[in-house]
Amino acid sequence: MSGTKGARSRRFEGGLADVAQAMNASVDFDQRLLPHDVAGSTAHARMLAAVGVLTEADADAIADGLAQVRDQLASGALPWDPALEDVHMNVEARLIDAIGDAGRRLHTGRSRNDQVALDLRLYARAAVADLDARCATLQRALVEQAARHVDTLMPGYTHLQRAQPIRAAHHFLAYVEMLTRDRARLADAARRAAVSPLGSGALAATTFPIDRQQVAQALDLPDVTRNSLDAVGDRDFAIELVATCALIGVHLSRLGEELVLWTSQEFGFARLSDAWCSGSSLMPQKKNPDLAELLRAKVGRVVGAWVTLVTVVKGLPLAYNKDLQETQEPLYDAVETVAASLEVAAGMIGSLELDVAVLRAAVDRGYLVATELADYLVNKGAAFRDAHDIAGGLVRAAVAAGRELGELSLDELRAADPRFDADVATWLDPARAVDRRDVVGGPARGRILAEIARLRAQLGATS
Ligand code: ARG
Repeated sequence: MSGTKGARSRRFEGGLADVAQAMNASVDFDQRLLPHDVAGSTAHARMLAAVGVLTEADADAIADGLAQVRDQLASGALPWDPALEDVHMNVEARLIDAIGDAGRRLHTGRSRNDQVALDLRLYARAAVADLDARCATLQRALVEQAARHVDTLMPGYTHLQRAQPIRAAHHFLAYVEMLTRDRARLADAARRAAVSPLGSGALAATTFPIDRQQVAQALDLPDVTRNSLDAVGDRDFAIELVATCALIGVHLSRLGEELVLWTSQEFGFARLSDAWCSGSSLMPQKKNPDLAELLRAKVGRVVGAWVTLVTVVKGLPLAYNKDLQETQEPLYDAVETVAASLEVAAGMIGSLELDVAVLRAAVDRGYLVATELADYLVNKGAAFRDAHDIAGGLVRAAVAAGRELGELSLDELRAADPRFDADVATWLDPARAVDRRDVVGGPARGRILAEIARLRAQLGATS
């Protein structure tokens, strides 16, 4: 049995009611904070010794004891005790069991309120590092698919209607851009999380002559919080991180939807390897894109986590309230869901196989080069609105005749506008149509190759 009663001092006569303990305890989920709790406590103890509140011998015993308790709790050698409520009281109680009196001095000048705020900030920073690495892995997979498909033409869509020809590489690189912005948002969330609240106490700081900067430096946090009430009551950093996770989830859901479409028999644009598909329990022929569908769906719970978080914090009076414990599970769920989704997406993209012939056939049907006819006439002096109108008439005639634009004769084109000449044939070649879109951000071959080179240099080797 533990040598401490945790947070229940002699103030209390009896124990918590069973259902009260079940609702009050957070150790089932906040044990994720174990490494951060121990890092924070170690930095706190070292600082207390440096300012003369603890002896160096006590700080040494605490640091060694904490490392031992951490390893034993992490390995399962020591069980978590829900009667001790949370990760903080479990660690402290085990520390006191292990080293005795010195352990009872650790909590000097500190409260669980600034402690949990610190642990969650350290967790958020570590989560960002992990999510960022996973985003980069997915980006590399997308860039390598792009590199394989520089010369694969496919229809680009608006309204899910074939619109203009593009290079398949351009499509993959669009997702790389989304993830670049997501990574910038992650970095931003980490920057605001990386501020030390330790020293804020329960709400009104502490009477001990603590050195907040020393603790922050030991934990590699560039700054300390400036208001103790705000520091123990704030979970903005978690809300921001979950909002960023939700946006990553939104991007992955779009990717998932496109994988579902592309691998359908209706599109037939791509095949997923068996590692990323499931069978049907009833229909033997089925190969279902379950994982792509789950990528599409998982964002639901991440957005839900964000709604949970802001709803919990909304309307809370300063400073700490136990409500804030309820911000933890949605934070963990959002981070873990998006981490898994990023890994699945990277695996699926890495093994995706495009059907180049089907994509090309799709480019050749559906009047995708109609815009070229209009642009051609503009180059011959027509106003764009007139050229658009003339090209529209040609599409209409071609549709009526069941022919593609490239199948119209020069005479037929000339009948619509005498400015058409033999060189129009090169304009109707989809590959050339793509390469005329030679602006920054466009799908011309040179632009795509430059983007791939830029991104490869930026992202480093495929891991
Ligand atoms: N498990 C608690 C939480 O997550 C730790 C802080 C408890 N503080 C308190 N005053 N009861 O918020």
